[in-house]
Amino acid sequence: MALRHFLTLKDLSKKELLQIIERAIALKTEHKKGNIYEPLKNRVLALIFEKSSTRTRVSFESGMAQFGGSSLFLSPRDTQLGRGEPIEDSAKVLSRMVDAVTIRTFEHEKLVRFAEHSSVPVINALTDDYHPCQLLADMQTYHEYRGSIEGKKVVWVGDGNNMCNSFINAASLLNFNLVIASPEGYDPSAELLKENADCTSIERDPVKAVNDADLVVTDVWASMGQEEEQAHRAKVFSPYQVSPALMAHAKPDALFMHCLPAHRGEEISEDMLEHSSSVVWDEAENRLHAQKALLEFLLCNA
Ligand code: CP
Ligand code: NVA
Repeated sequence: MALRHFLTLKDLSKKELLQIIERAIALKTEHKKGNIYEPLKNRVLALIFEKSSTRTRVSFESGMAQFGGSSLFLSPRDTQLGRGEPIEDSAKVLSRMVDAVTIRTFEHEKLVRFAEHSSVPVINALTDDYHPCQLLADMQTYHEYRGSIEGKKVVWVGDGNNMCNSFINAASLLNFNLVIASPEGYDPSAELLKENADCTSIERDPVKAVNDADLVVTDVWASMGQEEEQAHRAKVFSPYQVSPALMAHAKPDALFMHCLPAHRGEEISEDMLEHSSSVVWDEAENRLHAQKALLEFLLCNA
């Protein structure tokens, strides 16, 4: 297989995405049985993180260890990247030493530039625009609980952020209907909405949006890098809190997801994570299994 990157979900075909989801479920079963599987022995994954992380970092590091390989966590505070060494040079050098690079950064364009100069697969661990690894886990989780998501009604409540953009990509690849309930001025990428007008729509009223939903998803109101907007956003977004009362408008068997970390009392009510519809802890665990399936796909098919 030619060199493949995973910068957005659209780097995969529908068939490949479904294959990765199935593989993630199988790898999870094997892992829980205690079976050792080390397809990445002696392989090294570099993790360049310019923003904080718990789930993404730990799932990639644990996944590499379970696969028999190792990982290197590179904070810009300690590397020359943080002192202004050009992205292009860092990409050329690092990719001569490691087998794959995972990057969490601000501008998506920076990740794209790194990938253009990398001789090994580059994985998006979150940018301001997209968070595709989270969608692998979210789609795996939906499949585990309910089977195919094709034709289902998924409702995004809240900010039209990196997660929302990635849900639009998922809707277009997996053919579900995505309704976005965001306040005016906080819509996802206009270009993405236009390109995916057949499977996405905006509904400003969260109650109307959630009506008859199969899956309801939300995320923080102020993403990493928007901390100074927090107070203003809290006011604008207050009608968009997901609570058991809002979930009551969805289908009785609807699921609730949140990529975490969550702010109780803001985008979700205090009791939402423990509500009967919530699958957030499985969703978080599945980051491990889904990314192992992704690493295997990118590194073992080469
Ligand atoms: N959901 C997610 O990406 O979490 P972290 O920021 O902890 O990695
Ligand atoms: N939208 C959030 C997701 C965190 C996992 C952020 O970018 O901070």
